[in-house]
Amino acid sequence: MANEKKPWAGRFVEATDEFVEAFTASVDFDQVLAEQDIRGSVAHARMLSEVGVLTPGEFGAIEAGLESVRQRIEAGDFAWSVALEDVHMNVEHALTESIGDVGKKLHTGRSRNDQVATDLRLFVRDAIDEIAAQLTRLQTGLLDLAGREAATIMPGFTHLQVAQPITFGHHLLAWFEQSQRDYGRFMDCRERLNESPLGAAALAGTTYPVDRAMTAAELGFNAPMANSLDAVSDRDFAIEFTAAASLLMTHYSRWSEELVLWSSSAFGFITLPDRFCTGSSIMPQKKNPDVPELIRGKTGRVFGHLTGLLTLMKGQPLAYNKDNQEDKEPVFDTITTVLNSTIALADMVPQIIANPDRMRAAASQGYPTATDLADYLVRKDVPFRDAHEIVGRLVGMAVDAEVDLAELSLSDMQDVSTAIDDDVFEVLTLEGSVAARRHLGGTAPERVREAVAAARGELASR
Ligand code: ARG
Repeated sequence: MANEKKPWAGRFVEATDEFVEAFTASVDFDQVLAEQDIRGSVAHARMLSEVGVLTPGEFGAIEAGLESVRQRIEAGDFAWSVALEDVHMNVEHALTESIGDVGKKLHTGRSRNDQVATDLRLFVRDAIDEIAAQLTRLQTGLLDLAGREAATIMPGFTHLQVAQPITFGHHLLAWFEQSQRDYGRFMDCRERLNESPLGAAALAGTTYPVDRAMTAAELGFNAPMANSLDAVSDRDFAIEFTAAASLLMTHYSRWSEELVLWSSSAFGFITLPDRFCTGSSIMPQKKNPDVPELIRGKTGRVFGHLTGLLTLMKGQPLAYNKDNQEDKEPVFDTITTVLNSTIALADMVPQIIANPDRMRAAASQGYPTATDLADYLVRKDVPFRDAHEIVGRLVGMAVDAEVDLAELSLSDMQDVSTAIDDDVFEVLTLEGSVAARRHLGGTAPERVREAVAAARGELASR
């Protein structure tokens, strides 16, 4: 495109180098901001007419023109031009083509710098709302499954070695708690980003009597940003969003790792429905847990975006720099990744089938009730350190005899400690072990059921 068509070409005597034009353009990726861009423009134009910079008639024409541009974009009937650089100039150009010279008045008292900062804040805010809805759906699924499996015994691990029996519901509630903090981080981020840059213009503000509170309110922001330089320059909100996303993905990745382990034939704790798995082109017997594997893998790209955004920001002097055009693709990809991963998990979690027999068999291996036996001895007034030693010897006997602790005879046990009585056998069962951990935050089925009910209440009050 010849330079005289570019909105900023007044002082230029030669056309932009063709390569530079393509290199500096962002329209290929920032066109997804069109909806937010138009919302921001309508608010800006309405405000200009309220303060007398535009006539009501001019505002009416601009508003109707922007609405028709919006509809064309939505219908896919819009020719994006790289020569017009970005979404902002494409939309403004289309407006003027459609309503004539009055369209050229839209950019009064505004710069693309406050415009793009506004668009991106609105976009991330919209994304957070969508993520929050899907995350709530996933959390509801976790609670349903935890409620169903409140009394299902499985091994609890430390060092991936069988440690103590727990309930499957309790394990799922640990995931739920992690996701609650993730939800909170997104909400905190939303609250902090929800201020309006509009009116900051290029960097120093504008000579027009703009009503910044009015545009802020129309766009659902809590307030105008207090400093114009800060408003156009900082992308800390995008970094904070990506940081919250990184932690969420870290949790998803850990859950995924467990789902992959549990669904393996070696563990066999759960079955994932066929429709969330794929086969192998060579090994006919294979059923691969692709969805959790892919989520685990996608975590890496979000970490990459966080590092990229931090690095993008760290060397920038105030105020706006073109560097900031590079903020968009990492943010957009983070949103897509988080949203799709959340949808996949929300769809899959309610379909997980527990295999209680396999869980139970694994929980029985490795003397998981040894701590319960030590606690039993302490209740019989044996000091804990001595109790630990006694149980160690009993475990040694059981290992030699290749039996469970509960399969040792009472007299064999009494040879090691006279504090042991025939009431010992109930503490050696898996059910007795989990039921005894009935304090707040413990694994007892009754506690799991209570925690599920309390968590449902929290979700309902969102
Ligand atoms: N496409 C630009 C961006 O994404 C819009 C702002 C351009 N501002 C400027 N002064 N060149 O950051």
